[in-house]
This record gives sequence, structure tokens and C-alpha cells, in this order.
Amino acid sequence: MFEPEDWDERYSGEEKIWSGNPNAQLVAEVSALTPGTALDVGCGEGGDVIWLARQGWRVTGADFSAVGLARAARHAAEAGVGDSLGWWQIDARAFSAGGRSFDLVTTHFLHPPDGGMVEVARRLSDAVAPGGHLLVVGHAPSETFTHLDASRRAAMFLAEDLLPGLPGGFDVLVAEQRPRTVTHDGVEIGIHDSTLLARRRS
Ligand SMILES: C[S@@+](CC[C@H](N)C(=O)[O-])C[C@H]1O[C@@H](n2cnc3c(N)ncnc32)[C@H](O)[C@@H]1O
Repeated sequence: MFEPEDWDERYSGEEKIWSGNPNAQLVAEVSALTPGTALDVGCGEGGDVIWLARQGWRVTGADFSAVGLARAARHAAEAGVGDSLGWWQIDARAFSAGGRSFDLVTTHFLHPPDGGMVEVARRLSDAVAPGGHLLVVGHAPSETFTHLDASRRAAMFLAEDLLPGLPGGFDVLVAEQRPRTVTHDGVEIGIHDSTLLARRRS
């Protein structure tokens, strides 16, 4: 699941893949921030984009899957926030902000292969405006994921693994693994969200 065509295929079916609810760490960390401009990288079906828009953020949803972006735009229109959003097809592994900057850059469960999240964090930090925040959340490796193949397990990370990707001029506000319970096939499972929140100094 590392290339756009894998995700295009996954998003091509009828079925909704994600809940549509915003991610827990996004709500925990962003609810208290003053809304401004936001970039959600790996936005998938748009659950976080829609929540951010409803909080008053001017959001750009970004993903490398064109089919995913089209689906997110459809969900946003159905939610009544479509007009206020932008969409951007990018591969986070080669992302360049191109002079654009955002008050919040956020990404949840993107997981590029081979430790690539450190480089992704570095690239995304370039897009954070002075005084803005970078929020990166992913799965922490654990026994829970032993059913996945080795490459997918190796793509998981701890928040502190990403610190070498942060350039100078950022203050780390959170770097920890947060416990969360999910229900899979009717069974409750405990997992941890690796959560990095950093603020660029003004
Ligand atoms: C597990 S889904 C998470 C979606 C959403 N963030 C959420 O939490 O519901 C991962 C998303 O990241 C996208 N993605 C994966 N690798 C990417 C990359 N290198 N660049 C941009 N998007 C990527 C996929 O297309 C997919 O939509």
C-alpha cells in the first residue's frame, strides 16, 4: 500500500473505508488552536478536512491518490463545506511547498516505506508558517500488528524517530505514543498513536 495506484484501487470501490470521524489526536491538539490555513497530507476520504473546515480552518486536502481526492471532495460537498476547500495531488515523499505556507500542517497514518516518514516530516515542516504547527500522527509498532507483512510493520514509527527530520526553529510540544482503543471485527484492541506536535517559532 505504498504507491498511488494501490490507493486508487482501494478507493475505487463503492464502500467507504474510513469512519468519516476526525482522528482523535487531531481533535485533541487542534481544538484549542486559533483557526487559520491548514494542509492535511494523506487526507484520504476527507474526514479530518471536513472537521477542520467546520472549526473555521481554510483547508487544503492533499493526497497522492486522485481517486481518494475525488472521493474526499464528494464527501466535503455532501457535508456542506466543499466550497471553502482546496485540493492538491502530491506525493509526500517528494513534496515541495513551492513557497506556500500554512498555519497548520497535519498528517495522519501516511506510513511511507523504509523509514521514509522522517524525510516526509522534514518536507512538511517547510510548509509551516512562522508561529504555525506541525502535527504528525501514525501507528506505533506493536504486537497488535504482527499479522501485517514486514514492510508495513517497518513503515510504522515512534514520534521521537521523526525528531531528526525537524529543522531548527521548531519547538517540540508533544512527542509521545498515546493509547487508543479501536474495534476491529467486533473486538476491542489497544493501539498507540505516535504523536508529534511541533511549533515553528515566529
Ligand atoms: C491510512 S490512510 C489515512 C487517511 C486519513 N489521513 C485518515 O486518517 O483517515 C493513508 C492515506 O495517505 C495517502 N498516502 C499514502 N502515502 C502517501 C504519499 N506518499 N503521499 C501522499 N499521500 C499518501 C493514501 O492515499 C491514503 O489516503
